[in-house]
Amino acid sequence: LFASCLAPGHTDMRRCGESSGTGCMDRTDETFPTLTVLRHPLLQHKLTLLRRHDTSTGEFRRLVREMSLLMGYEVTRALPVEDIEIETPLEKMRSPVLTGKKLCLVSILRAGSGLLDGLLELIPAARVGHVGLYRDEATLIPVEYYLKLPADIAERLVVVVDPMLATGGSAVTAITRLKQAGAVQIIFLCLLAVPEGVRHLASAHPDIEIVTVGLDRELDAHGYIRPGLGDAGDRLFGTK
Ligand code: URA
Repeated sequence: LFASCLAPGHTDMRRCGESSGTGCMDRTDETFPTLTVLRHPLLQHKLTLLRRHDTSTGEFRRLVREMSLLMGYEVTRALPVEDIEIETPLEKMRSPVLTGKKLCLVSILRAGSGLLDGLLELIPAARVGHVGLYRDEATLIPVEYYLKLPADIAERLVVVVDPMLATGGSAVTAITRLKQAGAVQIIFLCLLAVPEGVRHLASAHPDIEIVTVGLDRELDAHGYIRPGLGDAGDRLFGTK
C-alpha cells in the first residue's frame, strides 16, 4: 500500500539512497528495497532537535508528537477514498471519505506510545494494539511481557510504531506475533534506523515496508544507534 504512493515526481519523500548531507548513511534502493526515508524538511529539522542532548523531556515529547503527525500524513497518503453524498448549508454534493481497509496502530511499549499519541490525533477512529517487549540488556534479545490486539486485525492495515529500529529484534518479534494473530498488511514506522536493524527486519519480514526519518551510521556495542538520539524511552518519559 505504502509503495503505491512513491510514484516518480512525488515531492515530499524519496526512497533512501539520496544524500542527506547530515553525516548519516546513504543507502541505495537495491540495498534496502523495503526502506523509505522521509526527507521532508520539517521532519528532518525536528529530528535534528530531537537528537540534541540538551533537548528537554517536554520538548522531546512535543517533537515526537509533531513528527508522528507528519509521518502519519505520509503513510496514509494512499488510503482509498470513496465519494458519498452530503449536504452543505447551500446544496447537495458528492465528497470523498475514507473507505475500505481500516487502520490498526500497534505500539511497541514503551517508547512506541510517543508516536502513537500523535497518530491517534490524526486517526482517532483507529484501533490500537500494544506489544510489550523489553530488551534484555545483556543479550539484547527482546522479551515479551504484554500483548493485546484487536480481534479483527486481519482486516486492517497495521501500522507498527517504535521510534528506534536498532538491532531489529523487537520489530521482528512484534511483527511475528502480529502475523500469528492474523495481520497481513503491515507498515513499520520509526524515527531512526540503522542498517543492521533494517537488514534484520527485511530478512525476517521482506514483505514489510519500513518507513523512517533517518538512517544512521551504525549500532554500537551496547545496542545504541550512532549518532542517534540516546534512549528514546528515557528521553520521552524523563526516566534517566
Ligand atoms: N533504543 C533506543 O531508545 N535508542 C537506541 O539508540 C537504540 C535502541
